Amino acid sequence: MSKTALITGITGQDGSYLVELLLDKGYHIHGLVRRTSQFNRERIDQTRSQAAAKGQTFELHYGDLADASSISRVIAKVRPDELYNLGGQSHVGVSFEEPEYTALVDALGVLRLLESIKHISPTTRLYQASSSELFGSTGGRPANEQTPFRPRSPYAAAKQYAYWTVVNYRESYGLHASNGILFNHESPRRGENFVTRKITLGMARIRAGLEQTLRLGNLDARRDWGYAKEYVELMWRILQQQAADDYVIATGESHSVREFVEHAARFAGFDLTWEGSGVHEVGRDAKSGRVLVQIDPRYYRPAEIDVTAADPGKAGAKLNWNPQVRFPELVRIMMKADLERLGIRAD
Ligand code: NAP
Ligand code: GDD
Repeated sequence: MSKTALITGITGQDGSYLVELLLDKGYHIHGLVRRTSQFNRERIDQTRSQAAAKGQTFELHYGDLADASSISRVIAKVRPDELYNLGGQSHVGVSFEEPEYTALVDALGVLRLLESIKHISPTTRLYQASSSELFGSTGGRPANEQTPFRPRSPYAAAKQYAYWTVVNYRESYGLHASNGILFNHESPRRGENFVTRKITLGMARIRAGLEQTLRLGNLDARRDWGYAKEYVELMWRILQQQAADDYVIATGESHSVREFVEHAARFAGFDLTWEGSGVHEVGRDAKSGRVLVQIDPRYYRPAEIDVTAADPGKAGAKLNWNPQVRFPELVRIMMKADLERLGIRAD
């Protein structure tokens, strides 16, 4: 018999890939969506039409992670076999500007879900979107499931509350609730104010003559960047395990923002060279002499994580995790998509 999944954050990057995966597996899909002043369902519109054409369930329900009554109403109605909690205020930089809202949604949101599951639907399995932000700065040492947490942003502090609440409900009430501690994962569907997408979109717009320069913050931050489409498969595998558990998901390779810009620029037909330092550093196209990248201190954060590094060994052994898309291929996929969106053929 087909299983039923409820997804929060279904309109986001990860939600949109997960829903495609689960529909392929024959799931009945329910998604929680917030009321927005304009419809923002571009990432799932096509999938929804395809599901309708095949007669597959794909239903959206209004609700908000900040509103306990909406959550319990939807859980009581759907009684999902699996609940993927991907919803939330997902921008680390913005969390410094909206710390209370971030806690309300990212920390207490999961508490609301767990309380509803416990009282209404205790056999529901929960996947919680935890984050490598939990680890803070590890000095470049690869983090695994045993590495202590040291959050460095309101976002990370909220995610830490959520992480431990999941563990507590698992231990206290026997719920099948798991954390996927995912390192950064990107795609052509990535939100436009995360650094990778900002770079690929910015380079494509410069190439199309729509913009002159790209303004960025810390070029030397390093991240373990993987491909979102691959990562959602791991979310599903985590919920298929007999026992609930927590897993680090990453590629095991870290690269800098600077490297990302250089790769993206090359793909867009530029040859970047760097001049100057600090806020005065610029990236110049060696062929035309044009300045394409400038530093804007507005994008610096009050506290930064200079390097994230991961040891995804447990996921490799237990979930058969073996990332296929590595850094250069990820940049290529994203750059190609953004160039093609602007009508520029790219191979
Ligand atoms: P995203 O693209 O920003 O999507 C976030 C989703 O959450 C959107 O569907 C958004 O709805 C929804 N949402 C926001 N506030 C909400 C609220 N109050 N109630 C209900 N839904 C709400 O994020 P993503 O990259 O797909 O990430 C998914 C989850 O994984 C997030 O929790 C994020 O913190 C976590 N995570 C992401 C990464 C990564 O690298 N991508 C790594 C580790 C963990 P709207 O469309 O209405 O805005
Ligand atoms: N957003 C942004 N914009 N970041 C910039 C910029 C810029 O113009 N310039 C440099 N950066 C640097 C940030 O300071 C950070 O060190 C790095 O680029 C990555 O920033 P983001 O792409 O915003 O991602 P993040 O690492 O802060 O957070 C993402 O990954 C987490 C997993 O580790 C988000 O997806 C989180 O939701 C997720 O938990």
